[in-house]
Amino acid sequence: MKKTLLSGVAPTGNLTIGNYIGALKNWKEMQRQYDCLFMVVDMHAITIHQDPSSLRSRCLSFVSQYLALGIEPKESTIFIQSHVSAHAELAWILNCFTYMGELNRMTQFKNKTKKYSSNINAGLYVYPVLMAADILLYQTDIVPIGDDQRQHLELTRDIAVRFNNLYGKVFQIPEPYISKVGARIMSLLDPKSKMDKSDHNFNNYIALLDEPSVVLKKIRQAITDSGTEIKVDKSKLGISNLLTVYSCLSGMPIPKLEEQFKGKNYTAFKKELAELIIEILRPIQNKYKKLMDNKDYISTILKQGAKKAGERADRILKKVQERIGFI
Ligand code: AMP
Ligand code: TRP
Repeated sequence: MKKTLLSGVAPTGNLTIGNYIGALKNWKEMQRQYDCLFMVVDMHAITIHQDPSSLRSRCLSFVSQYLALGIEPKESTIFIQSHVSAHAELAWILNCFTYMGELNRMTQFKNKTKKYSSNINAGLYVYPVLMAADILLYQTDIVPIGDDQRQHLELTRDIAVRFNNLYGKVFQIPEPYISKVGARIMSLLDPKSKMDKSDHNFNNYIALLDEPSVVLKKIRQAITDSGTEIKVDKSKLGISNLLTVYSCLSGMPIPKLEEQFKGKNYTAFKKELAELIIEILRPIQNKYKKLMDNKDYISTILKQGAKKAGERADRILKKVQERIGFI
C-alpha cells in the first residue's frame, strides 16, 4: 500500500517559481511513490477578502497550472477544498479540541493581523484548524509544505494525538516534508524576504505564466550585490538566491555553477538564468493555454476529484462523529 500525501495552495496572487521549486515540481515526482491528493484551498483564501470573480478564475487557473505541471488526474486526486464539505465539518469539531493558547502562538496569525489589521476575522484565527482538518480527513502520512507552515503541521499533530488519546486511534499522525534546497526562494528585489505569490510588486517574483520578455526584464532588474563574483555567500543574498534558483531548475549543484560562471559577470549570468527559466516555463505555458481553452475538461476533472476525495473524507468524518457521540 502506498502512503498518502496531501498538499494544498491557496488561490491568491500568482503561482511563482518559488512555488514551483518549493512545492509543485516535487509534487509531480511524488505522484508515483505516494497516493496523492492536491487541493486548491479556496476556504483558506477567504480569510482575506477576495473578489468573487477573481477567486473563481484563480481556482480554475491554479488547477490548470497543476495539470500543466504534470499532476496527473489518473494518478492523483485533484480537487477544490470547498467541494468537499467534510473539511468545514471536521474543522468545527477540531476547533473544540484546540486551545486558544495554541492559536495565539501561531506566527502566521500574528503576521497576518499586522498585515490585514482592518480585517482580523475569526477565520484567520482558526485557519490552522481548517488546515488540520484538511490533513486529518485523509489519514495523510506526508504533507509537503514550506518552512512557514511547519508550526501549523505541529499543531495538526498535537490535535490528532489529543483526539486519539481521548477517543482511541482515529487519526494518522502526519509528517511534514520540507525540501532542503530551495525550501525558501527569496524575493527578487528584496532577497531578505520570501518570494511571495501575493506580493503587490510583481517585480519581486517570476510567475509561472510570465511571458519570456517579462522574465528577462525581471531577472535583469533582480538585486545583485556589490562585487562581481558569482558565488553563494551569506553577505550576498541577491546573487546567492539567483544561484539557488539556477541550481534548483537545472539540477546542477551550486559549487559546479560557481565553477562554470567563474570570471563571468552578473549580466552574463542573469542572461543565462533568464533563458533557463524561459525554457522551463515554455512547455508548461503551452499546455496551460490548451487546458484553459477546454473548461469542460477541467470541470470534469474537478467533479471526479471532489467525488473521490469526498468519499474518503466522509468515512473519517463519520468515524469522528461516532466517537464523539453524535447520533
Ligand atoms: P504559498 O505560496 O505560501 O501559498 O505556498 C504554497 C506552497 O509553495 C508552500 O507549500 C511552499 O512549499 C511553496 N512556496 C511558496 N513560496 C515559496 C518560496 N518562496 N520558496 C520555496 N517554496 C515556496
Ligand atoms: N496553509 C497552507 C499554505 O499557506 C495551505 C494549506 C491549506 C495546506 N491546507 C493544507 C498545505 C493542507 C498542506 C496541507 O501554504
